[in-house]
Amino acid sequence: MAVRENGRQSAILGTGACLPSRVLTNQDLEKMVDTSDEWIVTRTGIKERRIASPEQATSDLAYEAALEACANASLSPEELDLIIVGTVVPDMPFPSTACLVQARLGAKKAAAFDIEAACSGFIYALSIAHQFIANGVYDKVLVIGAETLSRVTDFTDRTTCVLLGDAAGACVLGPSTHGNGILSLHLGADGTGADMLKQPAGGSRLPASHETVEKRQHFVSMNGALVFKFAVKTIDSAVRQVLRESGLTTDDVSLLIPHQANLRIMESAAHRLGIPMDRVYVNIDKYGNTSAASIPVALHEAWEAGRVKQGDTVVLVAFGGGLTWGSAVIRW
Ligand code: ACO
Repeated sequence: MAVRENGRQSAILGTGACLPSRVLTNQDLEKMVDTSDEWIVTRTGIKERRIASPEQATSDLAYEAALEACANASLSPEELDLIIVGTVVPDMPFPSTACLVQARLGAKKAAAFDIEAACSGFIYALSIAHQFIANGVYDKVLVIGAETLSRVTDFTDRTTCVLLGDAAGACVLGPSTHGNGILSLHLGADGTGADMLKQPAGGSRLPASHETVEKRQHFVSMNGALVFKFAVKTIDSAVRQVLRESGLTTDDVSLLIPHQANLRIMESAAHRLGIPMDRVYVNIDKYGNTSAASIPVALHEAWEAGRVKQGDTVVLVAFGGGLTWGSAVIRW
């Protein structure tokens, strides 16, 4: 959807991130499963990832990222109208992680809810936040992507445990004041691919039981090769679609921020799009795949490093379980 004609434009007013301090390196993983630093780096680009401490839940990471985003937006949490958290690892099934963050922030007037679109959760949340601002209902919306994937990672399964990490990223969205902001958004889903990437147990289909625990069904399971193919194709089509809707081409992209799942996925997709890697933001070497947190963390780092400047065209693109995908064009 191109968003300009439909009402107010929304812009990112500030960003924040929280990375747990504990670092789990590939060398650490070599001692846990039958793998090697060489295999992980060559196949994924990942060198290390962060792991939350036993006391840290998703809302704790989300809270820290939110505080920083509010500070960078020069805004008190009490001014927030809405908080949306994208996560697949909420503190608990209910209440929502967003409500827990709202309480800790003291964001008394904010409504709060979670959104579950796996690794696409941040873009889905961003699109909801944008609608509330565009139609004039809300002025200040906090969007968070936060995950403690280590809690649902099987550290005996080498095909998944080398990929995942913990993190939170956040941004505050408000009405645009000088023509900048979100130019276009695109969301998609294909539930026929639901089995490709999932945490099978713990819901109403397979409630937690001794059997589900014994069968290790509370951990992430995936078909890596199928996800890989889906990801490369989807990044290409989702980026082309939002650019078309904004009247732009790949030549106009100052910085592409893809979901950080695998360096080879990013390289293949960038090659298909004809975007050189020096215009693609990559931090997967440090954090692995942090699902809904990966894009807001990357956006925050890119902004802090001066890689996004006023007037730049930034494209975000995500894909994940569901299957889901989403993309956005932002004029900074
Ligand atoms: N260390 C050493 N060997 C390994 C490891 C490992 N960590 N993992 C798998 N292997 C082995 C396999 O067993 C296989 O051995 P075999 O040939 O004897 O059977 C061999 O390496 C090759 O395995 P492939 O699966 O073909 O390796 P591939 O190059 O496809 O890379 C990977 C696998 C990295 C998983 C890739 O497919 C990928 O990145 N897919 C996308 C994953 C993704 O984005 N997932 C989203 C998860 S997000 C979420 O769940 C919240």
